[in-house]
Amino acid sequence: MSQKIQAVKGMNDLLPVEQKDFKLTAAFWQAFENTVQKWAKRYGYRQIRTPIVEQTGLFVRSIGEETDVVGKEMYTFSDSNDRLSLSLRPEGTASCLRAVVEHNLTHESPQKLWYMGPMFRRERPQKGRYRQFHQVGVEALGFDNVQIDAEIIAMCVDLWRELGIAEFLTLEINCLGNREERAAHRSALVAYLTEHEAALDEDSRRRLHTNPLRVLDTKNPDLQTIANQAPRLADYLGEQSREHYQQFKALLDGLGIAYVENHRLVRGLDYYNHTVFEWVTDKLGAQATVCGGGRYDGLMAELGGKDTPSIGFAMGVERLLLLVREYGSLHADAVPDVFVMQQGEGAALQAMKYAALLREAGWDVLQFSGGGKLQKQFKHADKSGARFALIVAEQELADGSVTLKDLRGNSGQTTVSADAMISQLEQWQQKDN
Ligand code: HAM
Repeated sequence: MSQKIQAVKGMNDLLPVEQKDFKLTAAFWQAFENTVQKWAKRYGYRQIRTPIVEQTGLFVRSIGEETDVVGKEMYTFSDSNDRLSLSLRPEGTASCLRAVVEHNLTHESPQKLWYMGPMFRRERPQKGRYRQFHQVGVEALGFDNVQIDAEIIAMCVDLWRELGIAEFLTLEINCLGNREERAAHRSALVAYLTEHEAALDEDSRRRLHTNPLRVLDTKNPDLQTIANQAPRLADYLGEQSREHYQQFKALLDGLGIAYVENHRLVRGLDYYNHTVFEWVTDKLGAQATVCGGGRYDGLMAELGGKDTPSIGFAMGVERLLLLVREYGSLHADAVPDVFVMQQGEGAALQAMKYAALLREAGWDVLQFSGGGKLQKQFKHADKSGARFALIVAEQELADGSVTLKDLRGNSGQTTVSADAMISQLEQWQQKDN
């Protein structure tokens, strides 16, 4: 026997059934997608779909060469025809803005866009961290008023409530100021970290020279004191940035949205300024952040568009759904309404006709293929999760009747004329509900 080929490490199949180490099913996922589509529409966001592969330069320019995402985690390859360097997208914001600039979408008016799809990062896989993962992202392009900063947070809260996980998520916020303020803070931070260089771990020492802000993000317990006592960006913010941050917080207070200020929240991508935020949970172990985002006012111009103040966020679908599955409320109804079975010569054709009539009337029908003992067919019906069974055997075939059985409720079993099968099922359904 030849060797089986397995899925790529860190990339999951989404099956109709739960797997031992990956509990999300395709039906559950689809129920989430339906919820998201309606939610985005309620807030006036329109969907955008971009290619999964982009020119590598797009990500280098937007996310930043020194970030882990671009520096270490991208799947990059050269296109054999024209030797262009291409990469699988590690996130959605860059592609979204590339498309907006390319098609001049913000020419007439600001845009509210959302997307959903797979992203790729070559990280070390563990629960909640994958090499192919999925994001739902939202981008509001062309809004400089702080009102939008608060609105997108309220939008998140709305979705968390609908999914039944609001109480398990904490909102952390910070203000990253503008470019000059960040540069001044960076100099102070580098000076401070250089003073403590001997105490840093290898990762932080590397970051000191490439991306010092990320040292503040360290999870190493030995470095917490150093990180906590480092110069704070808040002390380098000018009047305007402080005002923006104050107004943002006042709006959250007014909306009754709780938050924690985390002065060490810096985000892993370079394009942010002013407002940044993350939604974290203590229910998922190490992979605690289910959603993150913030302002990126300079990015559109950086990508060749006109200056367009913007803000957005993306949630990790796997992480979010692991939380929803365990603690939330989302119903994935993938079971058929009626399981149709047959026995005896000629019964199959008649059963197929009844199944067609039921489907026409809006019922989801799973038909057993083949005959055999009814007992065996009942076992399949049970396993399918169907609510009702419809049986066509010799007697039913002879007198134009069907036998119906309520598999989940307590309406029992009855034989009615075929003309009455739909009204009988409707009656049972109403009774059970
Ligand atoms: P991000 O923080 O890099 O932001 O990713 C957003 C979310 O994607 C994370 O909070 C996490 O839930 C999920 N995620 C990231 N990496 C993985 C992984 N390897 N496995 C599973 N889930 C993962 C962005 O990507 C920005 N584009 C968000 C944004 C949109 N900012 C403004 N607009």
